[in-house]
Amino acid sequence: MAEEFIIRKANLGDLEEILELHFGLSKRIYKKFDKSVNLNWTYTHGKKYFTEQIKKAGGFVEVAESQGKIIGYVCGSLLPRPLDREKAVYAELESAMIDKKFRSAGIGSRLIKDFLKWSEDKNVKYVSIKASAKNESALQLYRNLGFKNYEIILELNLKKSRIFRIFKK
Ligand SMILES: CC(C)(COP(=O)(O)OP(=O)(O)OC[C@H]1O[C@@H](n2cnc3c(N)ncnc32)[C@H](O)[C@@H]1OP(=O)(O)O)[C@@H](O)C(=O)NCCC(=O)NCCS
Repeated sequence: MAEEFIIRKANLGDLEEILELHFGLSKRIYKKFDKSVNLNWTYTHGKKYFTEQIKKAGGFVEVAESQGKIIGYVCGSLLPRPLDREKAVYAELESAMIDKKFRSAGIGSRLIKDFLKWSEDKNVKYVSIKASAKNESALQLYRNLGFKNYEIILELNLKKSRIFRIFKK
């Protein structure tokens, strides 16, 4: 792709476009991987959340712009230290979304690498990312960048589970 992209820190003027991308991300995750996603979150809580991430010193929001339009973003932040883990600085990459038309052109990796550079400057030791277990392409990208499995969340849907029926037998 011979297109030019501008990669830059997000500002509050980008909020609406970031929310639009976030809504697209939620819809995609809901449709493909996880029916428990709250599709209202973007517009009930997202504005406050992204405003804080853009403004606070421990937040990171970077966008990719093409012809004056935001076509992708990455958002992450420093985390409070988990008290059951060693004393170190922790960060999390909280969400990433590139407009479908612009995927697989290296933009996502570039934004994530910028987040890792920012984290390094903040003396971060551990950076985590949560993703749907079925989101193979995103997981593969994170693995390519060096991320390894750390914890695995197992979940049981009791509304669907037959476990009590089995116990009663
Ligand atoms: C996950 C996501 C943010 C990655 O962004 P992206 O810009 O597509 O990522 P990149 O282009 O950097 O890398 C993706 C793939 O393209 C390949 N790629 C990188 N540069 C490339 C180039 N110039 N030409 C062709 N392919 C390229 C990479 O090798 C990578 O392939 P791999 O995953 O098989 O290793 C993006 O795909 C996305 O928005 N997905 C939907 C939302 C989502 O699932 N978000 C994650 C939630 S946890």
